Amino acid sequence: MATRRAFSTECERLTTPIQKREVHAPDALIIGGGAAGLTLALQLADQLQVAIVCKGPLNESSTYYAQGGIAAVLDAGDSVDKHVADTLSAGAGLCHEDVVRYTVENSTAAIDWLIDQGVPFTENESGPAKYHLTREGGHSHRRIIHAADATGKAVSETLTANARSHPNINFLPSRVAVDLILVDSDEGRHCAGAYVLNRDTGRVECFSARFTVLATGGASNVYLYSSNPNVASGDGIAMAWRAGCRVANMEFNQFHPTCLYHPQARSFLLTEALRGEGAYLRLPDGERFMPRFDERAELAPRDIVARAIDHEIKRLGIDCVFLDITHRPADFIESHFPNVRARCLEYGLDISREPIPVVPAAHYTCGGVMVDLCGRTDVSQLYAIGETAFTGLHGANRMASNSLLECIVWGRAAAADIFAQSRDVALPEPAPPWDESQVTDSDEDVIISHNWEELRRFMWDYVGIVRTTKRLQRASHRIQLLQQEIAEYYSNYKVSNDLLELRNLSVVARLIIESASARKESRGLHYTLDFPAPAPLAIDTILNPAEFAATD
Ligand code: FAD
Ligand code: SIN
Repeated sequence: MATRRAFSTECERLTTPIQKREVHAPDALIIGGGAAGLTLALQLADQLQVAIVCKGPLNESSTYYAQGGIAAVLDAGDSVDKHVADTLSAGAGLCHEDVVRYTVENSTAAIDWLIDQGVPFTENESGPAKYHLTREGGHSHRRIIHAADATGKAVSETLTANARSHPNINFLPSRVAVDLILVDSDEGRHCAGAYVLNRDTGRVECFSARFTVLATGGASNVYLYSSNPNVASGDGIAMAWRAGCRVANMEFNQFHPTCLYHPQARSFLLTEALRGEGAYLRLPDGERFMPRFDERAELAPRDIVARAIDHEIKRLGIDCVFLDITHRPADFIESHFPNVRARCLEYGLDISREPIPVVPAAHYTCGGVMVDLCGRTDVSQLYAIGETAFTGLHGANRMASNSLLECIVWGRAAAADIFAQSRDVALPEPAPPWDESQVTDSDEDVIISHNWEELRRFMWDYVGIVRTTKRLQRASHRIQLLQQEIAEYYSNYKVSNDLLELRNLSVVARLIIESASARKESRGLHYTLDFPAPAPLAIDTILNPAEFAATD
């Protein structure tokens, strides 16, 4: 097998003669242009040179598709304690309370910053409060600030426009980070940038940076049905894992209860704010079934609602359940949910007149790269922020609209830490060029598409909403075979976006299966028929790459 990839040996080769190649050398390399990456870039750019790389156009991120809004303490009747209590309750005993409190205490400042940036949040038509606040599952109070039902688009477009006009921010779309550049020395390991595939030229470029930040979003595309855009393939988690960082709580993948069930729009989300504004979940015969499962009914936390839907679908042998908001006035629906209404109309469904067919789909990665309160990972000069990180905020189940909040709070916190360190960290020597001397163009791309399909299907069937030990064992066996095949393929052929995503998804799938297998209880989003009750003690699942085989 060809030996090819530059990785952890980079340190030995940093002094080799530099060949002709494309080298970028920002102070900070930010991998990912969603809410987390953009926030950090805008914070840093007044003092540092920043490069943002992202896989596609800037609107191809989960941030862009976010609908419901951002949770924060904004109403006089609300309080930090209430927001903290709701988050802890949704997180089923696994949230880190200090982290929850830190996030919520910074929530008002985070929203103020977004308002200063110019995000056009929906305003009240009357009354003392300027901004309209909606409600979602798990929240005991109205505290979700939003821009109608397309909050992510408003945040993404505003921050992108501001970042684009900033002279110190260099936007590089159509770039896929392949792996981190690591330097080992007497002081330990540090990160010195990343190798990045330029999708337009097909060449792998070298980015040398004082600080490297993973802001690559989640990994929900490891499942067959997902609300996420294609970019969500867990690249940051896989890169950090290969670099030696610990990851935590990967078994807690959140399934959003209500994605449109339609052959042409399997991943379109119907925001939880619909239920916050009164929508009911019904069976095909019209029965409102959620009160049978939880006293909070449709506004129970997401794990409970998704599991109830899964249960009813399997019990009755039906394809979907129905989300019904027809009892609210049509003009209310149009003003609060214009995006959802328009998209459903494209598929011949009028949400103001008929219940909408819905199913759960993979939505959010609660686990991720372990970081501290500043976003620092286990590797020096490497940060992780946003959905790719595990901060301890979400516990066993993320409460709705706490994610965008986390992106903003950690984007700001990481910036403060990078500033504090920047005086002491020099620009690294350029790393050696990417070595493609022993690989060829693939002549069998079918292997990528076949393995991709197989992986996402067995993850859906065996590691989904309801798990068993036997299903996890089946998944474990399959992922080991797939990883061997993918590793061999990767060693022999030139990299492409699809190959990189498949390789990273296989790492993330393995981490999810390992974590789920290790958890001998049911808690939050991890539900197994073999251990249906929670254990007395709530403990994070922490995986350390030093303890895993080389193929990972
Ligand atoms: P993302 O916004 O996903 O951005 C990731 C970026 O990383 C992209 O630019 C991508 O191109 C880039 N990237 C990935 N891999 C690489 C690589 N290898 N090389 C280069 N670039 C890479 N949360 C809320 O709080 N409120 C909501 O209302 C809400 N609604 C949602 C609705 C939908 C449909 C979805 C999918 C999610 C929703 N969420 C919501 C969750 C929330 O949107 C995400 O968790 C959050 O936006 C993640 O932001 P991020 O910056 O971490 O990552
Ligand atoms: C939604 O609008 O339902 C998504 C909210 C979230 O994922 O936080």
